[in-house]
Order: sequence, then C-alpha cells, then structure tokens
Amino acid sequence: MPRGPRLTDRLGITHPIIQAPMAGGASTVALAIAVTNAGALGSLAAPYLAPTQIADAAAAIRAGTGGPFGINLFAPTPVPAAADPTAAMSALAPFHAELGLAPPTVPVAGGIDFAAQFAAALASPATVLSFTFGVLTSEQVAAVQSRGMMLVGTATTVAEAVQLEALGVDAVVAQGAEAGGHRGSFAGDFGASMIGTLALVPQMVDAVGIPVIASGGIMDGRGIAAALALGAQAVQMGTAFLTADEAGITEGYKQLILSTPESATRVTRAFSGRPARGIVNRAMTAIEGDAGAILPFPLQNALTRPMRNAATAQDRPEFLSLWAGQALTLARRQPAAAMVARLVEETDAVLARLRPGS
Ligand SMILES: Cc1cc2nc3c(=O)[nH]c(=O)nc-3n(C[C@H](O)[C@H](O)[C@H](O)COP(=O)(O)O)c2cc1C
Repeated sequence: MPRGPRLTDRLGITHPIIQAPMAGGASTVALAIAVTNAGALGSLAAPYLAPTQIADAAAAIRAGTGGPFGINLFAPTPVPAAADPTAAMSALAPFHAELGLAPPTVPVAGGIDFAAQFAAALASPATVLSFTFGVLTSEQVAAVQSRGMMLVGTATTVAEAVQLEALGVDAVVAQGAEAGGHRGSFAGDFGASMIGTLALVPQMVDAVGIPVIASGGIMDGRGIAAALALGAQAVQMGTAFLTADEAGITEGYKQLILSTPESATRVTRAFSGRPARGIVNRAMTAIEGDAGAILPFPLQNALTRPMRNAATAQDRPEFLSLWAGQALTLARRQPAAAMVARLVEETDAVLARLRPGS
C-alpha cells in the first residue's frame, strides 16, 4: 500500500497523467500549458536550456496557467574520457554535405552548467523538479524540498529506485524498456537495465514506499488502467504527446510516428553517445554501421547537433534523432487538451469494463 497522501493530491492534479518532459524542442511551453490546464501535469524539459531560457520558459508557462507543472533536468554524468573524434566526424561528413552544411568540427563537451540550471529551476514557479540519468547530492535534495517543490527521480531498475528513495526523492518514474528517448539508467549496465514496464512497475512498487510513476509504452486508456493495476499512482507519457498539435517536432517526424510499425524502433547510441530509443532511419543505421565512430555522451550529442538542427529546419527526418517508444502506432493526432480528456474517458471505460457485474 502506498504510504502518505495520493500522488495526484500531492502534485495538485486531477488526472494521474504526466506529460513527459521531452528535451530538444519536442515538448513546448504551449504543450505544458495545455496539459496542465486539462488537469494533468505539464512539464518543461530544461536539460539543454540555459538558465535564462529556463526562467523565461517557466514564466511563460506560469503566464498561461495557474496550475502545477514540472521542470526536468539531466543529472550530471561523468565527464567522458578523451576520444579521437576523427572517425565520428568522417561518418557525419556526407550528411553535412547533403544538408548544405560545412564539414563537422571537433565537438566539445560542456556548455551545460548544471549548478546554474538547478538554481534557475529552483527560482522558477515550477512545482515539481524531475531528473534523469543519475542522482542529485543530498544538499540539492534538501534545497528542492525546502523550496516546497516535489522531487521526482527516474529509475530503470529496482536497485536504482531503492537508491533514489534512500536519497529522499518524493516519487520515482519507472522507465520501462519500451520508452522513447534516452534511457535514464545510472547504476548498472545499460543492456541489463532494459526491463519492460509490465515487469518493472510491480517489482518497484513492492520495493519502495514512495509513489511509482509508470513510463514506457503507455499510449491510451488501456495502458493507463494497466499501469494503475500494477500499482503505479500515475503515468508519464512521452510518445503519445509527440503527435499533439502543440508538440514542437516537425511534421515529417509526426507523420513517421503515426506510420511506423512497433518493430521499427531501436535503442541506439548513434545520435548522443548514450542509449536512447528512436525510429530506425538512415542516419542511425549509417552511424551505427561505422564501427568505432560513436563518441561518448555528451560529445556525440554535440557532434550530431548541427546535423539535427539543419534536419529540423529542412524537415529531413532521415537525419533526425526520431525518439519514440515501442507503442508508437497507438499515437493520435489531437490538441493536447482533447488528448487528456480522451485518455481520462478511455481509462474510466476500461476500469468500468473490468469491474465485476458491470
Ligand atoms: C522525444 C523524447 C524526448 C525525451 N526527453 C526526455 C527528457 O528530456 N527528460 C526525461 O526525463 N525523459 C525524456 N524522455 C523520456 C520520457 O520521460 C519517458 O520516459 C518516455 O517518453 C516514456 O515512453 P513513451 O515514449 O513510450 O511514452 C523523452 C522521450 C521522448 C520520446
């Protein structure tokens, strides 16, 4: 049994639905506002934002809604060992030429000042701070809680959830292997941490006393009802919101989500150097095929950024990191508010159908 008040009450939301923070422009201020105003939790993805951008985006969300919303950051990861970028740069060179870009240049790590991002998040009107890729220091945990924000970590194994609970987070996202985007794994081998949502959630629920938020492959009311049945107190949905009208991805990317079969996503290091699930495309296949041509995170991410930015501007999905989860064929094209209302209706219908005598 979960201890303490229910997560929805603590988050101040009506429906147990969290719009996943999606870095790189996929989740937008408009999306967060629409989701929060529909009674779920909107999220601002701040991992790649400068402190002033975090302040501006959070203020814009607050201007659009009086409700709760979250800010998400990447926990600091170890600085990668020096690596020769020559092969990785050569692998990208033909794509740069095709996109009309100058040849790739040597990528540099850095540019992200976590302490400054964290300070900006704390100073913002957000009511929740979530993070992935690791842990925070106990001083940072105390700072979040003394500011009155809820703190949510991300775990891909039971052991990671136990570690996050010991750190003092208020809730944990159980990120199953189906999930789109980067793996949050931080305390074990990436491959061994590929546990499906159906297996991960109940084991995590049994192991920790804090609320568990199910994430990965949840696209409609059936998925939400299933997650609640497994003991999750809420769900965090990414891919489902990528096809919302307010999502910031290109039209080509949206169309691929709507038309790609469930067998055509893969976890790859090709775009960032860190495992992430996305739709298989030309760039992914070519970069993976160039043995030894992938730099560690965040160097590979910095290296592929010009290609991804140009591909976004030109709507050339074959050169984009098309992050998406395994249940992508269930995606629907709708405004976010209609999507939340539909998810709630569907969940209620599934739960009513399962009730004996109904
Ligand atoms: C495009 C995209 C970007 C994402 N970026 C982030 C992020 O910045 N921070 C984070 O904690 N999770 C991120 N995720 C992972 C989500 O939080 C969530 O675990 C995932 O979307 C759940 O699986 P689903 O896509 O099948 O719903 C991202 C997911 C996608 C699809």
